[in-house]
Amino acid sequence: DVCSSDLKIIYQLGVVDIMNKKKVTIKDVAKAAGVSVTTVSQSLNGNGSRFSPRTIKRIQRAKEKLGYEPDYFAQRMIMKKSKMIGVLVPDITNPFFNSLVRGIENVLYQYDFMTMLCNADMDQGKEDRYLTELTHRGVDGFIIASSSISNEAIQKILRGEKFPFIVLDQKKSEGISDAVLTDDFSGGQQAAQHLWDLGHRQVAVVMPENATENIQNRLRGFQTVFGEDEIVRVDAELSKKSGRKAAQAVINSPATAIFAVNDQIALGLYLGLADQGCRIPEDYSVIGYDNIDMCEYVVPQLTTIAQPIFELGQTTAKMLIDRIEKPNKQWEEELLPVQLVKRFSTARLN
Ligand code: RIB
Repeated sequence: DVCSSDLKIIYQLGVVDIMNKKKVTIKDVAKAAGVSVTTVSQSLNGNGSRFSPRTIKRIQRAKEKLGYEPDYFAQRMIMKKSKMIGVLVPDITNPFFNSLVRGIENVLYQYDFMTMLCNADMDQGKEDRYLTELTHRGVDGFIIASSSISNEAIQKILRGEKFPFIVLDQKKSEGISDAVLTDDFSGGQQAAQHLWDLGHRQVAVVMPENATENIQNRLRGFQTVFGEDEIVRVDAELSKKSGRKAAQAVINSPATAIFAVNDQIALGLYLGLADQGCRIPEDYSVIGYDNIDMCEYVVPQLTTIAQPIFELGQTTAKMLIDRIEKPNKQWEEELLPVQLVKRFSTARLN
């Protein structure tokens, strides 16, 4: 039996004597490589740019030969770094966020960071709790794509503790952090121009009643092409289920074309319109937004506005890592372009 005072001694000595197996320590690696403990520690933590390639190789070899595994808990205490990033997304069931997180993870992995993914379910309480808990667990920074969290909470929880963070997509930056945006205004404009060029003059825009800023920008762009009396607003959440329900309101309107502010809504509309015996694009032209991969796997394939989703994740992760390395630099904002992808769900009005 190991009582708590024994455990204390075990931790203090950095030795595990269970089964008589001596734990390899950083000292052993330093000794085998013929360098100091500090040199080993800095090199293994990615801060070894000033050491020669030979020294770095010697350390790597000694580490591998001895089977040394850094104690992340101790490392975190000493270096005040966990090599973990908290990522908050509003809805993990939406494929948009799958691709986004893949992009984020792709970069974090290259820089040796772990991705801690939190699905906030568009619930402010959950988002606050995740932020607080992750700060207690010592993450090195945050990527926030979720909008329910208030800027007050961000200020209190993250700014108070000086945690690096970056916002994107549904979360507006409001000048309190770095941000990566996609050109939502242009996306809305391109969608509208496409429908206009096909001869449509009455359009339904299907979007949430209390839309986040990025979605509102899509509408603003759309309104530069269609006037108020040519647009019918139909309320729907950003989900397939909600899109399906919205079909009835569209059918009751004079619209001949539909702009769904995300692909999930558009895919829901496919089913909702079919439920009522309506065909796409013969009865209704439908254009979505995002370009998730499902767009290519439905009939007819969905015309949409493509966001560079994977690249958005990559850019965001790179910018956060840069912020962690240079905490005092000016806030940065990057705007990525979007583009129309013409497929078969839109057609000329006869
Ligand atoms: O599909 C999810 C939607 O929420 C996307 O359009 C994305 O931009 C986010 O706002």
